[in-house]
Amino acid sequence: MSKTTIATKPIDGQKPGTSGLRQQTAVFMQPGYLENFVQSLFDAIDPAGKTLTLGGDGRYFNTEAIGTILRMAAANGVARVVVGQGGILSTPAASAVIRTRKTDGGIILSASHNPGGKDGDFGIKYNIPAGGPAPEAITSAIHERTTTISEYHILEEAAPDIAALGEATLGDMVVEVIDPVEIYADLMQSLFDFGAIRDLFASGFTMRFDAMHAVTGPYAKKILEGLLGAPEGTVMNATPLPDFGGGHPDPNPTYAKPLFDLMMSQDAPDFGAASDGDGDRNMIVGRGAYVTPSDSLAVLAANAHLAPGYADGLKGVARSMPTSRAADRVALKLGIGAHETPTGWKFFGTLLDAGLATICGEESAGTGSNHVREKDGLWAVLLWLNILAVRKQPVAEILAEHWAEFGRDYYSRHDYEGVDKPAAEALMADLRAALPELPGRKLAGLTVREADDFAYTDPVDGSRAAQQGIRIFFEEDARAVFRLSGTGTVGATLRLYVERFEPDPARHDLDAQKALAEVISAAGTLADIAGRTGRAGPDVIT
Ligand code: G6P
Ligand code: ZN
Repeated sequence: MSKTTIATKPIDGQKPGTSGLRQQTAVFMQPGYLENFVQSLFDAIDPAGKTLTLGGDGRYFNTEAIGTILRMAAANGVARVVVGQGGILSTPAASAVIRTRKTDGGIILSASHNPGGKDGDFGIKYNIPAGGPAPEAITSAIHERTTTISEYHILEEAAPDIAALGEATLGDMVVEVIDPVEIYADLMQSLFDFGAIRDLFASGFTMRFDAMHAVTGPYAKKILEGLLGAPEGTVMNATPLPDFGGGHPDPNPTYAKPLFDLMMSQDAPDFGAASDGDGDRNMIVGRGAYVTPSDSLAVLAANAHLAPGYADGLKGVARSMPTSRAADRVALKLGIGAHETPTGWKFFGTLLDAGLATICGEESAGTGSNHVREKDGLWAVLLWLNILAVRKQPVAEILAEHWAEFGRDYYSRHDYEGVDKPAAEALMADLRAALPELPGRKLAGLTVREADDFAYTDPVDGSRAAQQGIRIFFEEDARAVFRLSGTGTVGATLRLYVERFEPDPARHDLDAQKALAEVISAAGTLADIAGRTGRAGPDVIT
């Protein structure tokens, strides 16, 4: 074997964001860009003699990147790499493989829901042996290293073919190619009543799952159409494509519009769902009934005990701060803990490890549980299916009953994408500076009760995260949150999250935007969104 050491220089901007390092594909394909980051990662985790899991969402540059990482892993003394066949592993499946095979962490290649292709985005992140995204201490160490790196190690030999299952060697390292679906599908069968869901499909229940030409295609085909007997064609856009067919693989009413429109039409099947580029996000839609991610989390928490994997009840529920308080109401009733964390799945890791939470969720279409340490799109879909199989009611009815019991948290998120970065940062800085003067202020018929900049202390490891979003609480049981996205690659994305509680079942059928009109108007005025962004309205409403 011939190990080469190549001289390199630090490249600016290799700082992991909310979920790993994400950049435009062209940036990633520059000579040395991927190599610098991977060597910095190896320098931070000292991988000699270890076993790593490796896979990605199949987007453009996935295969080449896997080859480079394998050659660098071998040159850095890694003992074994467990890689998904064809370089494929959905993010939750990668987490499942890390945990089931007890590997010393793993590397996941994905830019999640961002478009792929030459003109799209690419990304890489490291997950720790528990299966979850690396915490801040590790990502900072990696970033720190990218600023001083002077060489990287790589094997001259080409990486082995990963198209077929089996083992090969690369230098002294073993490359083990596994079925990307098997471990994950086994895990799902251990959690859910596949018999009941099979009976549901056999009884004529209809469903469409939109894989958006992304990584969940093969997972959904095998599980829904294979193991659960859903008719062929249940999974739409099932073939993963390097550019996701030119689409934006983010499962929300805007980007999964064809499915959304179908679900709102006369021809709607009983149930609709979609997942994102790397399979960790989900969208749930009943016939004529869109379920917001915040409501989905609450309904899943209230009904999880109907699935065998959660029959003993939940230890607690956790949600990210901008997610609505609907899940908190369920936790209160169940007498279990409710945790509020900053945005980013990594913040749930310690709570899951410590047994403080069983189910977690975010408004950004992520839901999951302690079965892995990533959010899990298909898991959410299967838990919904398990609940539907037991309750035998339409989604709309389940939602209505839920709201009647707990009240409804009207909720919406408005995104202003690709905004001028300095302008967005100034908007946030000015809001932050104005916080002390806000209580008592009247806007659009609402009165500010309290306002702050969310800071979090992890109850398990004591780590602190500050400036995680500006929260404006109104006397009228409403809230507006301002935050800048941590996952974009161009300009800034301003997110405005609005919610308002409505206890009266007679008022649970309103259009969400109408029910939230005053909160939206108050927030818009407070931050002068139109003036600062130059936009008349948001680009995406979820
Ligand atoms: C990724 C993370 C999520 C997070 C989301 C927020 O999907 O895995 O945990 O909620 O990004 O993204 P944002 O763009 O709002 O920072
Ligand atoms: Zn994702």
